[in-house]
Amino acid sequence: MPKGIYIRRYPLTEKQKESLKIGQDKLKELRKDPIWISRHIERLSIARSKIKRTRKGIPHSPEAIAKIKVARSKQIITEEHKRNISNSSKGRIMTSSQRLTLGKSLKKSEAAKQARLRANEGLRQKWKEPEFRNRVIPNILKGRSRGLHIRPNKLETSFKELLDTFFPNQWEYVGNGDLIIANKCPDFRHKKKSMLIEVFGDYWHEGEEPQSRINIFRKCGYPTLVIWEHELKDVERVVTKIRAFSNGDIELPIIESNRLYLRPVCPEDVDEHYISALNDPEILRFLECRFVPQTKESILEYVTQCNNNPDISFFAICDTTKPTKPRIGQIKLGPINRNHSFSEVGLCLTDKSHWNKGYGSEAIRLVTGYAFHILNIHKCTAGIYEDNIASVKAFVKADFVREAVLKSKYMIRFEEYTNEIVMSLFAKDYQQDIPTIKGWEPILGLPNKRER
Ligand SMILES: CC(C)(COP(=O)(O)OP(=O)(O)OC[C@H]1O[C@@H](n2cnc3c(N)ncnc32)[C@H](O)[C@@H]1OP(=O)(O)O)[C@@H](O)C(=O)NCCC(=O)NCCS
Repeated sequence: MPKGIYIRRYPLTEKQKESLKIGQDKLKELRKDPIWISRHIERLSIARSKIKRTRKGIPHSPEAIAKIKVARSKQIITEEHKRNISNSSKGRIMTSSQRLTLGKSLKKSEAAKQARLRANEGLRQKWKEPEFRNRVIPNILKGRSRGLHIRPNKLETSFKELLDTFFPNQWEYVGNGDLIIANKCPDFRHKKKSMLIEVFGDYWHEGEEPQSRINIFRKCGYPTLVIWEHELKDVERVVTKIRAFSNGDIELPIIESNRLYLRPVCPEDVDEHYISALNDPEILRFLECRFVPQTKESILEYVTQCNNNPDISFFAICDTTKPTKPRIGQIKLGPINRNHSFSEVGLCLTDKSHWNKGYGSEAIRLVTGYAFHILNIHKCTAGIYEDNIASVKAFVKADFVREAVLKSKYMIRFEEYTNEIVMSLFAKDYQQDIPTIKGWEPILGLPNKRER
């Protein structure tokens, strides 16, 4: 008997072992006899050809069928036999076909059906609990991305190679479930900045609008760039895109109210008006930049620094009541602390003719609306000289509250100190309407339409 073909399901009894031993010994003796071997081979080849014929679809002969029937009718499984089978099966791992057969037989059973319904209902009830969902979904996603799919896939692997070549040690692959944000599993994360890149396969994401995913991640504090598979044909363009993105060359939105709008400050804004305003003692009275003379170069450097920092949103405040929509000042949201989800707010109306007309408070309302509703920031703060009454009032009008007083923090005149008032506004206390935020659909320089 060839070894390893038969699986022993239950232990042999002593009697069986004994007869098996006798049989094996007898076989050993017979194998020494050449006549027996030649007959044995002949019998085997006949049996094999019979099996072959049957497998080819040739039906059994009526005699054979009758024999099989008789043999099967005698097959009665005794209770002891069943127990033996069950004992020998304990601890064994079922094959997929065995599992299938078991599943089929269970499906027929009414008790199993009831149990399955009960389990489904229990799970449905649990699923309604957000805590359960939040706990379970990341695990499912993690399991899926680790187990069912091969990650990184072909596209992700080639994109990773591109990143490793052009941006060594900057981006890491997290698409295997290492990072879950808002129950989603992004593909690549910047190692130092809170930034993500998603690679969209043309087939799998056909017709999908990437902006919704970008918005979800951005709300969680992660600016996101989506690269389509077909874009990878032009490596140079993709590299430029990633470079612009990771250097913070991120398009900011336009935020509008009835009288003004906020738009990104650009180098062209650094004109004579801007330079002279930043050297005007009245405007600078409570600003830190008063300690050094401001030149075109120094202002340009500051603007570039702000624009290159993904944690700063630097906006020009423009008056829409005038036909030319002039720039009347700047407002800065940042640096944003993404770990703790708070941000500083600071502003300056460089056009003094616009002071005390409510433009300052309106600009603060717009920028905080953007911070809370788009960037999902939890708290905005402002540090103000106590003597800067206009500023304190403007922040109060924008719903900020006095949170702390830091005594004699700033030297306002030679050896004369003033307090700093720390004012803050929490997202939950933001009472205003959500500002109109234009242009944040194509934010981050992403193509809205598929360029094929
Ligand atoms: C501070 C600044 C942004 C305020 O902007 P603004 O458009 O004048 O502010 P608003 O009109 O919304 O609110 C200012 C309020 O202070 C009041 N105010 C101004 N000076 C005041 C004073 N000396 N005493 C009492 N109230 C005063 C105004 O009347 C107004 O209140 P109201 O609307 O109830 O009349 C603007 O003056 C400015 O840019 N200053 C220079 C830069 C600066 O100091 N920036 C602040 C850094 S934290």
